[in-house]
Amino acid sequence: MKKVYIKTYGCQMNFYDSRKIKALLVKNGYEIVGCPEKSDIIVVNTCSVRKHAEDRALSFLSSYKHIKKKGGILCLLGCIASLYKEDIYKKYDFINVVCTPDNYNKLPEVLKIYDSERICITGESKNPFISENLIIDSDVSSFVTITKGCENFCSYCVVPFTRGKLMSKKPEGIYSEVEYLVEKGVGEIILLGQNVNEYGKDTGDNFSDLLEKIHNIKGLVRLGFLTSHPKDIHNALIVLFRDLPKLYRYLHLPLQSGSDRILKLMNRKYTFAQYIEIIDKVRKVAPDITITSDIIVGFPSETEDDFNDTVKAIKNIEFDDLFVFKYSQRPLTSASLMEDDVPNGEKERRHRIILGIQEEIAIKRNKRFTGRTDDVFVLKQADKKNGYFLGRSSSNKMVLFKSIYSKPGTLENITLTSADRRYIYGCSSC
Ligand code: SAH
Ligand code: SF4
Ligand code: F3S
Repeated sequence: MKKVYIKTYGCQMNFYDSRKIKALLVKNGYEIVGCPEKSDIIVVNTCSVRKHAEDRALSFLSSYKHIKKKGGILCLLGCIASLYKEDIYKKYDFINVVCTPDNYNKLPEVLKIYDSERICITGESKNPFISENLIIDSDVSSFVTITKGCENFCSYCVVPFTRGKLMSKKPEGIYSEVEYLVEKGVGEIILLGQNVNEYGKDTGDNFSDLLEKIHNIKGLVRLGFLTSHPKDIHNALIVLFRDLPKLYRYLHLPLQSGSDRILKLMNRKYTFAQYIEIIDKVRKVAPDITITSDIIVGFPSETEDDFNDTVKAIKNIEFDDLFVFKYSQRPLTSASLMEDDVPNGEKERRHRIILGIQEEIAIKRNKRFTGRTDDVFVLKQADKKNGYFLGRSSSNKMVLFKSIYSKPGTLENITLTSADRRYIYGCSSC
């Protein structure tokens, strides 16, 4: 039995893919191990969204060149494989296998190769989704990818080139996957797509309908979704935050910039005023909602004035949390034709300023829940000695609460007593 170690970089979709690959390989007689040194095959599932992500994955893979001396096999998957295809295969001759996401179903066969052999599989595939069910140990939460690809072509973003055209899974397949997971004890499902609200645009299906149907699956406790694009947030979706009790009051809605000039250059297809309108509507329907966002600083030509518009936007909106990224020029993107003219030191300064502002806002946003009670989805025991459990509030906030016994995968009514940057604290019987 060949032993495989899988290392994953990048977004939740890559983590979901790696778990599917694991299930597929186990079904085909491979053993998954937790230590690269003890494996025969090292598989690295990579991300290309920023240069730094690429560098990390490639340096990890290079650092295991020595396993080849013992007959080991090195395999590169994910977005680096899709972006550079044969070029990466030619450049790094120590890599045995390069395989793009659409071809993962072929891995059980491909990984049978000898250590002296090499193979590069980057063609299109009629069967890009792995249908094998995930292996559930004691997990109470699971991602379920419902679309692949993205055709929005935000000017900075490599994803349309790595993941291709939008392709939605069939609703029936999604229901049966969720039903299977729920039967295995999973209580929380997070639906995934690069732009999840576009689900069904290619098949005539509809995201709000899908959410409602999944919500009705018996035994499901909590439901969430990632990532939303502002241009695709419609009223039919917004009202679900009020109407579906199992749906997390949680929206991750990347803003990217507060400057209309930069938003236009980014090809984001909304203005700041339109973005604010959505936030207002959502907060009116679901006042307790947690809203998080992504910001890019140092996009080509971003001036101090543009940056100040972003700062103003962040102070004005008061997001619950933010992911802030320094612009990184990516091959094939339309922004790569623009000069990457904001110096790295300046990107770092802007990055630091936004994180600093967000720090205080995030604490304030967490504190607004203290003094209330909420049904918390229990994730796991966090600290056995002191009797703490970790869970997620109905607004998708991390809650650390004191309890003698709580059952992961169920809801528990918790009194929320205090909060800091990371957690809301509470107890089950106070
Ligand atoms: N599909 C999602 C997220 C895509 S990648 C969306 O539509 O928003 C996650 C985040 O990485 C993006 O929201 C963006 O903020 C950031 N990002 C993408 N490309 C980038 C680049 N070239 N440089 C810096 N950050 C980038
Ligand atoms: Fe990238 Fe834009 Fe697609 Fe998100 S919506 S994956 S940022 S191109
Ligand atoms: Fe990275 Fe690919 Fe996801 S570029 S963010 S792993 S889709």
